[in-house]
Amino acid sequence: MNRKEEIALHTKEVEEIITKYLPKEEGFQKTVISAMNYSFLAGGKRLRPMLMLETYRMFGGDSKVVEPFMAAIEMIHTYSLVHDDLPAMDNDDYRRGKETTHKAYGEAMGILAGDGLLNYAYETVSQAFFMEPGNVRVARAFAVLSKKAGIYGMVGGQTVDVETDKGEPVTREKLDFIYALKTGALIEASMLVGAILAGAGEEEQKMIEAAAGDIGLAFQIKDDILDITSTMEVLGKPIGSDEKNNKATYVTYEGLEKSKEDVLRLSKKAVESLQSLSVTNEFLIRLILELIHREK
Ligand code: IPE
Ligand code: IPE
Ligand code: MG
Ligand code: MG
Ligand code: MG
Repeated sequence: MNRKEEIALHTKEVEEIITKYLPKEEGFQKTVISAMNYSFLAGGKRLRPMLMLETYRMFGGDSKVVEPFMAAIEMIHTYSLVHDDLPAMDNDDYRRGKETTHKAYGEAMGILAGDGLLNYAYETVSQAFFMEPGNVRVARAFAVLSKKAGIYGMVGGQTVDVETDKGEPVTREKLDFIYALKTGALIEASMLVGAILAGAGEEEQKMIEAAAGDIGLAFQIKDDILDITSTMEVLGKPIGSDEKNNKATYVTYEGLEKSKEDVLRLSKKAVESLQSLSVTNEFLIRLILELIHREK
């Protein structure tokens, strides 16, 4: 089995878990539920729940308590994409190879589907508290997930991101802030939740958070590169979105070659730090290395 086949197999495993948690499309409000499921089921690499599950496994986790968290992180991520594509934000018409949610359902439903997904993520995670009452790790993981999604995480990063699309030069400090928060935070949440639920120690949690930060930064730099070098057919979303929005990106700041070097450097750094732990997950390492060369 080659690396791509191996990842495809793991993607299938993750999809089977996370789709179980989707809401039923029924009731007078079923339009919003259909819009939520439309964006969620449109595809996607399922990277965040996969990183969560594999980090959980690396630290010896073997309970179903991780599953609601896996579904929740993908719901939060999907909502962030639905809102990111709105006319008021990046104004993009395609996502995951299909029309964006606001194109397919209208802008009001796009906004509400995002709201619904975010809230449903927490409704879903609340199940974990009942699965293992008294397991304090569930509360700790919940605290991390909610913080990394909000103003001290993804929402905070998106805020500064939309403020920099005036074509004005951005400072390096602000650029780093945007990347660490808009993309890094949810990757950190993914791996940290997996580690916490499996009982990783405090030092291990710190290492995981730092490694995930590097993976997240590499991931967003690669996303910026693909926005320039890929095609809509391969990516499933429009290319040239950053340029259209006069967005200051890592690539406009550092240039394409340095950006490519940094994707490699950051990914290797993350892998080395994971390899220095007393526990291992060879698939997780292969997954992180595969992301360097991803085409979508
Ligand atoms: C896109 O994330 C948004 C970024 C943070 C770059 P992904 O590239 O993980 O999107 P999907 O989930 O595969 O569609
Ligand atoms: C998005 O960054 C990060 C999010 C938190 C959604 P981008 O705006 O570059 O993501 P894409 O390229 O639209 O997926
Ligand atoms: Mg954006
Ligand atoms: Mg965008
Ligand atoms: Mg992008």
